[in-house]
Amino acid sequence: MTTIRLATEKDVPRIVELYHELTIAVSHVEQVANPSAEDYRRVFQEICADPRHELFVAEDGGRIVGTVILIVVPNLSHSATPWALVENLVVTSGHRRRGTGKMLLEHVIARAREKGCHRIELCSDKRREKAHRLYRSVGFEQSAHGFRIWF
Ligand SMILES: CC(C)(COP(=O)(O)OP(=O)(O)OC[C@H]1O[C@@H](n2cnc3c(N)ncnc32)[C@H](O)[C@@H]1OP(=O)(O)O)[C@@H](O)C(=O)NCCC(=O)NCCS
Repeated sequence: MTTIRLATEKDVPRIVELYHELTIAVSHVEQVANPSAEDYRRVFQEICADPRHELFVAEDGGRIVGTVILIVVPNLSHSATPWALVENLVVTSGHRRRGTGKMLLEHVIARAREKGCHRIELCSDKRREKAHRLYRSVGFEQSAHGFRIWF
């Protein structure tokens, strides 16, 4: 059975491993970065220390098979209600099409509602058509154009 929980420090190496399955473009900044295990640990601690960040993992039979992060942004527009951002959704290749991605997304959508957000949004590379099908299946609408600058 797959369950979802907040990540702990011991999960960090596995989460980093999963992020390799996410990569389709590598920015210049990433090309020159060479993070150590200690760097990853420090950044994880920063994430944990910020109540606006929630890093989740999906676990199945003691193994982490997926992950996603939710970021809640304080906001003065929209009657001073926060909005939420979803990033870094990945399910390991051997565990796909079993509903884990959907479970992770439904979890962060519920959390954003609980936190009083007026919307939840995400940005996804145009090439990720399979992921887009998943996003639509849990209620995301393609109602905006995303713009990015990669550094
Ligand atoms: C996108 C991703 C997270 C989906 O995870 P998953 O656990 O396989 O997704 P689910 O099993 O919950 O799929 C739910 C629905 O999404 C759609 N979907 C997901 N993967 C699909 C695929 N490969 N082909 C067609 N539809 C797909 C289907 O509608 C599916 O429902 P169904 O299986 O009942 O038909 C996973 O494929 C992944 O990690 N891909 C690489 C990283 C990535 O693209 N992340 C998103 C970055 S924006």
